[in-house]
Amino acid sequence: MKLAIVGKGGSGKSSVSWLLTKYFQSRNQNVLAIDADYNMDLGHNLGWNESIEIPYFSHSEVDFYQYQELDQSVYYVDMPAREDMKYFSYRPNDPVTEKYIYPIEKGVDLMVAGPVHTDRLYGHRCTHAYMSSLKMYLPLLKKRKEDIVIIDSVAGTDMVSYGMYLGVDAMVVVVEETPNSMGVYRQIKEIADEFMIPVYVVVNKYYQLGKLEHHISPDVILGKIGIDMGLIQYDYTTLTPETLSSVETIVHRLDSYNWDESLQWKRHKIWKERYDTQLEESKKEEYTFVNE
Ligand SMILES: Nc1ncnc2c1ncn2[C@@H]1O[C@H](COP(=O)(O)OP(=O)(O)O)[C@@H](O)[C@H]1O
Ligand SMILES: [Mg+2]
Repeated sequence: MKLAIVGKGGSGKSSVSWLLTKYFQSRNQNVLAIDADYNMDLGHNLGWNESIEIPYFSHSEVDFYQYQELDQSVYYVDMPAREDMKYFSYRPNDPVTEKYIYPIEKGVDLMVAGPVHTDRLYGHRCTHAYMSSLKMYLPLLKKRKEDIVIIDSVAGTDMVSYGMYLGVDAMVVVVEETPNSMGVYRQIKEIADEFMIPVYVVVNKYYQLGKLEHHISPDVILGKIGIDMGLIQYDYTTLTPETLSSVETIVHRLDSYNWDESLQWKRHKIWKERYDTQLEESKKEEYTFVNE
């Protein structure tokens, strides 16, 4: 399975990404843990720090293009329409994957998108441009069924609406029982529905306030995690039995789904068709201010 962990800032995305990674590791599965947030919390939670040098995936553009045998005249937006895109591979690793992963623990490989530096403040490219190669890499990454890819995301809807997760099996929204956190879930779901990306919920820091089921259908809730000091210290051995039982429930639910992995690249193709149609439409109109 290839899962993007999304949700409101502070809801617990990096903690849940860590917890799932550790759980799959404890089941002797291999995990590719992709830290796609600029603050690199998942990497840190897994014991990585900046003194351990790994090339950041946001700098992978040259390698990406070389592997694809494309020159820079080909834009990312045009890639989904091409028939000659090459698949990447995790275990065995293609050269790009091999270069950008670091074996942080037995069974866990870490990939880090990287931080934001001041060059972006003065650069001529939008910050999203640094994420383009990852956006294309995700749907093109092949792996064995038993291996897991977990992607820890930037907070909120920004990366979701950028289309970063068109190429995953499912998005897991980490939700707290607050109106704002549930609001972010609704926004993410609206975008996901547009592309039929399955969306599930992990309730985190669960206090049993009782309002949750009014806002989120119980069928999509994979499990609920209470307050746990082990999720502050990132020490798997100190997690409470309740947390361990919750993560087991969550993973058993995930195990029971059978996603069609060909949809990952297909969604990009659908996006491209819609994008081209919109572009043609927009050429017929005069520029209008953004209003809705
Ligand atoms: N279930 C939990 N119990 C106690 N603390 C938690 C729990 N989940 C997350 N935290 C803490 O909440 C803070 C925010 O969590 P984090 O995973 O970094 O959120 P996000 O990645 O969504 O911004 C961190 O300090 C983390 O240790
Ligand atoms: Mg985080």
